[in-house]
Amino acid sequence: MSAVMKVQKLLSDDAYARIDRELLKFPADQKQSAVMAALAIAQDEKGWVSPEVIEDVAAYLAMPPIAVHEVATFYNMYATEPVGKFKVAVCTCLPCALRDGNKAGDYLQHKLGIGYNETTADGKFTLKESECLGACGDAPALLVNDKRMCSGMGEGELDALIDELKAQG
Ligand code: FES
Repeated sequence: MSAVMKVQKLLSDDAYARIDRELLKFPADQKQSAVMAALAIAQDEKGWVSPEVIEDVAAYLAMPPIAVHEVATFYNMYATEPVGKFKVAVCTCLPCALRDGNKAGDYLQHKLGIGYNETTADGKFTLKESECLGACGDAPALLVNDKRMCSGMGEGELDALIDELKAQG
């Protein structure tokens, strides 16, 4: 498929407007520089970056789809498989592991009844392992939907977080 071949647009006008604002940060002939932001915007809207979304972003940025696919699969903040409404990524790197990070992950797996890389039957929660989130001093740390950082997540905090997310539907 040609890098500039137009495919049917999958995102909302608002999403394309947000991508356009990202494009303004770069020279007109360097559209590919906005690929990470464009993928994040697409994921915000669609929940994950499907092959169709990757094609769409590629067409919008005049990039080969394989180049967008490579970015989407390299960084773990992009979901290339369907995920639940709330993606909870628990840091399991060593500094967190030394301060109950694995215990927090085990607790969540038991509480949600799923393992890592699994989604609850109601489609609400997907559990992931995360690389260091830069909050090692406040372990255990986790990230909700790639944006909300939660630190100091003992059992009480985890219970409160899951209750809060469940209440959001
Ligand atoms: Fe967990 Fe750094 S090791 S936040």
